[in-house]
Amino acid sequence: MCGIVGYIGKKEAFPIIIKGLKWLEYRGYDSAGVALLNGSLEVYKKKGKVIDLEEFASEKNNGGSLGIGHTRWATHGEPNDENAHPHVSMEGMFTLVHNGIIENYAELKEDLIKHGYRFNSETDTEVLANLVEYFYKQSSEINSETAVQLALSKVVGAYGIAVLCSEEKDKMVVARKGSPLVVGLGNKEYFVASDAAPIAEFTSQVVYLNDEDIAVITRNSFTLKNVQNTPVSLKISNLDLEIGELDKGEYEHFMLKEIYEQPKTIEETFRGRLRHDQSEIVLGGLINIFPKIEKAERIIIIGCGTSWHAALIGEYMLEEYAQIPVEVEYASEFRYRKPVLGENDVVILISQSGETADTLAALELAKSKGATVLGICNVVGSTLARETDAGVYTHAGIEIGVASTKAFTAQVTVLTMFALKMAKARKKIDTEEYQMLVKELSEIPEKGRLILENNENIKTIAEKYKDAINALYLGRGYLFPVALEGALKLKEISYIHAEGYAAGEMKHGPIALVDDNLPVVVVAPKDDYYEKIVSNIQEVKARKGNVIAIVTEGDVVLKEMANDIIEIPDSHPAVAPLLSVIPLQMLAYHIALMRGCNVDQPRNLAKSVTVE
Ligand code: G6P
Repeated sequence: MCGIVGYIGKKEAFPIIIKGLKWLEYRGYDSAGVALLNGSLEVYKKKGKVIDLEEFASEKNNGGSLGIGHTRWATHGEPNDENAHPHVSMEGMFTLVHNGIIENYAELKEDLIKHGYRFNSETDTEVLANLVEYFYKQSSEINSETAVQLALSKVVGAYGIAVLCSEEKDKMVVARKGSPLVVGLGNKEYFVASDAAPIAEFTSQVVYLNDEDIAVITRNSFTLKNVQNTPVSLKISNLDLEIGELDKGEYEHFMLKEIYEQPKTIEETFRGRLRHDQSEIVLGGLINIFPKIEKAERIIIIGCGTSWHAALIGEYMLEEYAQIPVEVEYASEFRYRKPVLGENDVVILISQSGETADTLAALELAKSKGATVLGICNVVGSTLARETDAGVYTHAGIEIGVASTKAFTAQVTVLTMFALKMAKARKKIDTEEYQMLVKELSEIPEKGRLILENNENIKTIAEKYKDAINALYLGRGYLFPVALEGALKLKEISYIHAEGYAAGEMKHGPIALVDDNLPVVVVAPKDDYYEKIVSNIQEVKARKGNVIAIVTEGDVVLKEMANDIIEIPDSHPAVAPLLSVIPLQMLAYHIALMRGCNVDQPRNLAKSVTVE
């Protein structure tokens, strides 16, 4: 949450920062701001989107080749101009942008007030700006990096910060604990950002900051130390990221573009991994560690939000085909309870961003218990990717829409490959079934393309239900997590209250909600549970509920029974989630759009939840 960009070099900083903030807007969009140090210090900040800031600051004095910027997801203090970052210290010596939460800010603020400090905002960040200034003023021997280091040594909480000092005009200090920061190394220029996307067009040489690192950057130098003031050696990584332009192409929204990209992204996910001759599945990132993984006594899959739904599908697959016990956990629960796990367990952390605070904390906990930790993530070089023992990238490409779509299908694709690979290694699947499933998976992109052609039909259905207040989503087996994901999509972007339920559980509560106003979306392609889900649909219909059924092409029974149907191509049940989720994403998209909602930037949400 919150995106940070910084630039120091010889180019104009303002356009680089604004463009970078647009890349990072998925992290928060309550307000945005920029500070430029060019002789004098200029700070511009605005409630609203980066584009509002851009308009506001374009007419102003925005020259200079040193600056920092921020796009905010509010934690302390409502989104307004005062609480927007950058924050300037009381005497104007320090300007700071921050991602994270200073947990002991109240205590620090009280001490600063005793020393005569006054505050203009309700934020924890302004406290940090003043704390840095306070230390700076203690002695002429103390430079800006030492002041930052002393201040951070007093901080409890999480931070990614970029700091400018008005008295040291050729320097930027950045630091991280818990909130990601990456520094791009150019020729006498440096780029700072919360993730690598804003940097990729300028350089492929990057340094990922580790927790408690402090980087001191001038136009001619880059040094690292830590909060204990000990020098840290530089580890330069090669950034292997093709990002293209931040461009919606022919689509009205990033979410729609990403929904339509899925046939291609699913292909990208299995490219080079799924062999055409249906023999070995190659997951390069796991090769060295696989002999250990295949002997695991238990697998625990952990994630949040959409990633947690993907984990549930992984559980069903791994248990059915690899016959290994699997548990699925919310990262936010796992990290605080006292889970029993040890060296024979494999823990898989799933995260699109690779930066979700709870998932990273769960990772640390699993590591401390001696488990083997694997990551499935989309963002190359993210903290999750760097901290796990091994992992698999989803290769879905950058996802901008806050409601995750293509990352989900990519995660499920990886889990399907992993489950089949495990099944084969553990000799729990015969060659024929294995090859059939590999073939089924390889056919998903083509079938997905056919679903996308259904757009007009889905739009018509959306029109009928756009004014609903509640909605119920039902599924069984592999399609239960799909029902959860469909409901999540609808509530995230349309603000209609939606609940996903295992269809068999309907009679234990949700059926009380059914009346002639309730849309009930049932994920009901033909599988082993088909007859049972048809009965569930009957039960809804008997109570006058409106059923929208996702069915296998040519299903005449449900065509008669349901109010509306969306057909999907026939596929094996184990890979059906990859298809059946697509119409649910589209339905949510159209309903949200018809309700006038901001599809790509829904209220109160952010894509990368770096605070707990
Ligand atoms: C936020 C996003 C969701 C995402 C979840 C987990 O809530 O809005 O789309 O599923 O975080 O994010 P991760 O990056 O860990 O997959």
